[in-house]
Amino acid sequence: MKNIRVNTSTPYDVHIERGALSESGKLISAVLNSKKAVVITDDTVDKLYSSVLLNSLEKSGISADVFVFPHGEQSKNLQTLGQIFDFLCEKGLTRSDFLIALGGGVVGDITGFAAASYLRGIEFVQIPTTLLAQVDSSVGGKTAIDIKGGKNLVGAFKQPALVICDSDILRTLPEAELACGMAEVIKCGMIRDKSLFELCESHNISNIHEITDEIVYTCVDIKRQVVENDEFDRGERFTLNFGHTLGHAIEGWHNYTNYTHGMGVATGMCLITRRFCSNDIAERLEKCVEAYKLPVSTDIPMSELLPFCSKDKKCESDSISYIVCPEIGSVEIRRVTVAEFYKLMEG
Ligand code: NAD
Ligand code: GLY
Repeated sequence: MKNIRVNTSTPYDVHIERGALSESGKLISAVLNSKKAVVITDDTVDKLYSSVLLNSLEKSGISADVFVFPHGEQSKNLQTLGQIFDFLCEKGLTRSDFLIALGGGVVGDITGFAAASYLRGIEFVQIPTTLLAQVDSSVGGKTAIDIKGGKNLVGAFKQPALVICDSDILRTLPEAELACGMAEVIKCGMIRDKSLFELCESHNISNIHEITDEIVYTCVDIKRQVVENDEFDRGERFTLNFGHTLGHAIEGWHNYTNYTHGMGVATGMCLITRRFCSNDIAERLEKCVEAYKLPVSTDIPMSELLPFCSKDKKCESDSISYIVCPEIGSVEIRRVTVAEFYKLMEG
């Protein structure tokens, strides 16, 4: 069992332990007094894990109702959020009660935003069930939904009261979802931790479960440091976007279908590294990315991708920030005009 204390504006623990899902009731009771909760989850996760969670809550005297929505990014919207609010009212959830997000980043993001806004804010607990959610989205307090204008455009900073990571849960994840999470793990190694990168290099998609505990712990600790330094995303936190500028552009070009976020991030990291770093670093990154069945390049011409970069949240008026890792384990933010960025990437 490992515990990481995240000292943000409201501090909380990330509890990392195999089998922790069945101990959730006890873990939650240690930090929250309320005996009433609503669990929010998607249909896939509901079938796999709701009953284990509900049993554990019941043993600790917590009564819970479950709100289930269809899995996938297309549910992370205003319509689902409205249904969640109606459900919370129907169940009489008060300010002293709480929500539990049981699922991947989609469930975590929409539940966090519901918790931030229902009755002007109630507590919530994250129980992330994807690798991506355990290593990234469940920690740090970014919550959001998608609107017509773009992904994650409406949201709030809302730190959870507790995060429970059980790596046994990751065993039912499809390979493509594990790969998606690995893109963020490799990113953490590239920007902050050479040993983590080497651990990724020494494994591959087929033996990943040997290292999930270690990578979850290491990535959460990296995220802890970053969000403690820059909770509201005004500086250092931006480094977590390594690979994301081009990654989001590729995802956008594909209209967010048939191309996962992890594939985008992996390709984005490789393209930037090829362009700005030594051959040795680019080759190591590409080999590592390929070991997790993620793409290292794209056939989409730069001229078609770059306009999508200008639409990115990281783009301010006529300038754009991008992230480079000059060495494995170190990171730099570079800011140039959009025109310069186009020239650099097309050249
Ligand atoms: P997801 O939540 O859609 O989960 C992926 C799929 O895996 C879903 O179909 C889900 O039903 C299924 N699944 C989840 N857990 C499972 C399990 N244990 N076994 C079997 N199937 C399981 O996607 P994701 O990759 O976890 O998260 C992506 C979302 O996270 C995006 O909306 C993105 O914007 C957001 N995100 C947020 C942050 C943040 O800081 N808030 C950071 C990164 C990403
Ligand atoms: N996933 C990026 C962040 O939390 O800032």
